Amino acid sequence: MLKTEDNKLLTQTDAGTPMGELFRKYWIPVVNSNEIAEPNGKPLKIKILGEDLLIFRDSEGKVGLVDEKCPHRRTSLSLGINADCGLTCIYHGWKFDVEGNCLDIPSEPAESKMKKAIHLKSYSVQEKNGIIWGYLGPKESEPPFPEFYWMGLPDDQLISERVWQECNYLQVMENDVDYVHAAFLHKALNEQNISSELLSSDLGINPSHPLVKNPPVKQAVENTNYGKRCIGVGVEDEDNFAFMEIHYIFPFYTFPPRMEGEDGMWHAFIPRDDHSTWSWDVQFSHNKPIDGAGQSQRRGLILDENFRKLRNLGNDYEQDRDLMIDGNYSGIRGIANQDHAVTETMGPIVDRSKEHLGTSDLPLIHIRRMLLEQVKGLKKKEKELHEIPLKKLFSCGTVDSKTKTWREAIPLQESFQLGTDKHFEET
Ligand code: FES
Ligand SMILES: [Fe+2]
Repeated sequence: MLKTEDNKLLTQTDAGTPMGELFRKYWIPVVNSNEIAEPNGKPLKIKILGEDLLIFRDSEGKVGLVDEKCPHRRTSLSLGINADCGLTCIYHGWKFDVEGNCLDIPSEPAESKMKKAIHLKSYSVQEKNGIIWGYLGPKESEPPFPEFYWMGLPDDQLISERVWQECNYLQVMENDVDYVHAAFLHKALNEQNISSELLSSDLGINPSHPLVKNPPVKQAVENTNYGKRCIGVGVEDEDNFAFMEIHYIFPFYTFPPRMEGEDGMWHAFIPRDDHSTWSWDVQFSHNKPIDGAGQSQRRGLILDENFRKLRNLGNDYEQDRDLMIDGNYSGIRGIANQDHAVTETMGPIVDRSKEHLGTSDLPLIHIRRMLLEQVKGLKKKEKELHEIPLKKLFSCGTVDSKTKTWREAIPLQESFQLGTDKHFEET
């Protein structure tokens, strides 16, 4: 449960709000590169942190992330002409480059100095592994680009997806660190023949998988220099436990749990506005080309041209009650679709003053606490993201003897340990 004021503080991210300003200190995935593949192509509207922006690729292939509205009389530049290294407004012909410099104001007299004084708001971008990232904070405090594990993998070992999720970022992110839901929401009722790299089919995860059998798992949350490591320990067999980990990388990135040998997954939860989220999902194979079709099929998100789902709140995510008899627990196809169903039906911003949290909710309690401590300035982080060797970080669970503690079975690498405050909490 959270006080109403704290819930507001955590969930509001427009410019000028405390959390909005905090999030603007981080690099944010904006669109997949292939969405604006062609130089001089159509500019794409994209809303992030409540800001209406436009992203376009100019004639030289450079990418601009700019205010959607023309500084003249605020017409949308999405209708503009993208040619000759700039975007030209179709209303009166004002032209801007990718950095927002005004190149031409043909509607003013030739001797006018006006174009020197005019600037279109623009943000820094970086293109990496087929994703274009943006930095929406003040130029003078732009941090170095973070290097996540999967950025070192070849392109054919990755797939990335961005999806419009119809609720606040925090309830999406809390779902991602919630171990126990997998044993219910994502449970397939019968064993299925699934290739070893894939966590599930579109029905769900096999009943024999450590994430599904023997809930609730024993849990622990460990403080780290990147955020929190959330541990889950389940009974594997008479002699062994399954030890699992979820990495929460402050403020909005995660590596959900995966066992050794399975493809990995990385998420980013970027507020579109306070009532919707760009849910980013990168699936990666550690050592061979990824089965992109298999991954998409099991995630089960069917999207329209605006990245909104065809299975959605309006049609109950196509829940099939016959499927609940011998198919899966939820009656909903697609493991990501199942996640969207439970988070979106909470409403656009869940009223956390009405919750009743139990011991199973330990990880999300810690994530909220960390976000509140940081946004209120109660604690200082030991390191910034770019100072941490994130390339070495991904989730990898293992099966090991019951005689071991979780700290022995899946120790935290030294480079992620805190110098102080080595606190952890268990249930
Ligand atoms: S509104 Fe864009 S040039 Fe006038
Ligand atoms: Fe889930």
